[in-house]
Amino acid sequence: MCGIVGYIGKRNAVPFLLQGLEKLEYRGYDSSGIAINSSKGIEVIKKQGRLGVVKNIVESKPDFCSSLGIGHTRWATHGSPSDLNSHPHVSSCGKIALVHNGIIENYIEIKKNLIEKGFDFKSDTDSEVIVQLISSLYKNDIFSAVKKAVKILEGSFALGIICKDNPNVLIAVNKDSPVIIGAGTNENFIASDIPALLSETRIICRLPEKQIALIKATDFELYDFDGRMTQKNFTTVNWEVNAAEKNGYDHFMLKEIMEQPEVIKATLSPRISGPNLKLDNAVFSKEYLKNLNKICIVACGSAYHVGCVAKYFMEKLLRKTVEVDLASEFRYRCPIIDKNTLVIVISQSGETADSIAALREAKLKGARILSIVNVIGSTIASESDDVLYTHAGPEIAVATTKAYSAQLIVIYILGLYLAKSTQKINDENLSLLVKKLQNLPYQIENTLKYKEEVFKLAKKYYKYEKVFFIGRNLDYAVCMEGSLKLKEISYVHSEAYAAGELKHGTISLVDENTLIIAIATQPELVDKMISNIRTVRARGAKILVITSSLYIDKFNQVSDDVISVPEVSPELSASLAIIPLQLISYQIAKLRGCDIDKPRNLAKSVTVE
Ligand code: F6R
Repeated sequence: MCGIVGYIGKRNAVPFLLQGLEKLEYRGYDSSGIAINSSKGIEVIKKQGRLGVVKNIVESKPDFCSSLGIGHTRWATHGSPSDLNSHPHVSSCGKIALVHNGIIENYIEIKKNLIEKGFDFKSDTDSEVIVQLISSLYKNDIFSAVKKAVKILEGSFALGIICKDNPNVLIAVNKDSPVIIGAGTNENFIASDIPALLSETRIICRLPEKQIALIKATDFELYDFDGRMTQKNFTTVNWEVNAAEKNGYDHFMLKEIMEQPEVIKATLSPRISGPNLKLDNAVFSKEYLKNLNKICIVACGSAYHVGCVAKYFMEKLLRKTVEVDLASEFRYRCPIIDKNTLVIVISQSGETADSIAALREAKLKGARILSIVNVIGSTIASESDDVLYTHAGPEIAVATTKAYSAQLIVIYILGLYLAKSTQKINDENLSLLVKKLQNLPYQIENTLKYKEEVFKLAKKYYKYEKVFFIGRNLDYAVCMEGSLKLKEISYVHSEAYAAGELKHGTISLVDENTLIIAIATQPELVDKMISNIRTVRARGAKILVITSSLYIDKFNQVSDDVISVPEVSPELSASLAIIPLQLISYQIAKLRGCDIDKPRNLAKSVTVE
């Protein structure tokens, strides 16, 4: 939930630390700080608030420089946002500084023991306990103290550590929380995510699970928690530097919305070859498919909404049971799964704690795990039997847009692939749908061309405080995502409702102060949607309809405004209907003066359960 960075080399570490933290602010931004190992020993600047606060202090101190340092941007879990709770934390002896991402589950017990030994704590955090524990084990060898400490700690921890007595060493640790090492020439970097490193290096090494990196300026070594040296695996990242920048847009969210045609092409093209579909390295044998009893999808937030689309899409196509669960609920319903169940985990970050827990639960029960993930080598990807990567590139805005769209594409491909493998679709229909899939990026491009028209409607409706998104079937699944987008970035209370369900109670909330956003793209449900719309209109609600170009006239008669999206097979309509919803949420949030890329109380990667 926090971002960590570190530098060791010949240059002044501070500019990289500040710039790296800026790139990681999406992971948390209630406080930030930097620690360096200078000629004066460990020096720390840390403050509650956005990174700018720390940056201003640093810039007013020209002698705050060193070639070894660590930095942190925080999203509070233990202890409120405050200067004292900010990272880096420094041991009582003043020699060791540490940044932490994750949660230490046994910190109370460790803290009690350390207090009995005379250690003094300044913060309410679990993280300070780690640095004090390391300090209690320190006998002039920081690496050996860290090795002992990680054996005592329970929970998840990505760590960056520096020590006054070891000015040539930067230490990083990964347990259930990512750390990436960026390799430079006579300098090395660490960060919790790739965008922080892109301006410095393309050569990265993901610190594997339960490993410690001993990093020097010229090289680094990896060790497991038992102290055995392990192998380093490097990858070259081919993301453009400006892929992690705003590219001239006011916000990352708008930039990412506009990138969707490209992202969808990138996700589709390696998987389509003529009329055939390819599933990367995943192989489903005839035997496996014959015994497959059901598909279970687990995910959180927007990824869960992709799962809801997937249920409608796959169940109809495959005539196989498809269940979809919120990952945080999955374990507690004692799901009935076994080796003949395919569990699909959907996650942009690949690090969402609830999704990881659901994945592990399903694995224990013997299910085959296929994940749909955006971040290469992330925890979910590495613990799955098969991975289908979305090629959305880094997503910086907290509210997902392009990753959601890329996940939908992978779901379509997977569904069609399984349908073909189980003879549930004939070649003619398959090639028709594949062609429509290939056309989606262009249709999205066309939909995005109407951005200014959608923004005008946002101006008309941005003051509404009560919004319902209504739809049926696949459109209902899209409503869930539309409603989440609106509430998370504009703080307008909205709900997604199955259009036919409104009359069973909730309609009592509908009055002239209500905005209804109705999604109606499913041909056989158009007339039913018209009746539902008439009912809420009769209660004074304002109606905005999103429909396919085929039905504009019908909906014009019963609504205040209609946004049309290009005609597409009803099965694929979610990919188009979501576009105006993303745009209108963005513009409403902008008109309401909200912090669009970093909405309050939210973090991009939710690594706590
Ligand atoms: C909403 C949003 C979140 C994520 C959810 C899961 O815009 O981004 O709801 O979808 O936190 O995150 P991942 O996909 O990283 O597992």
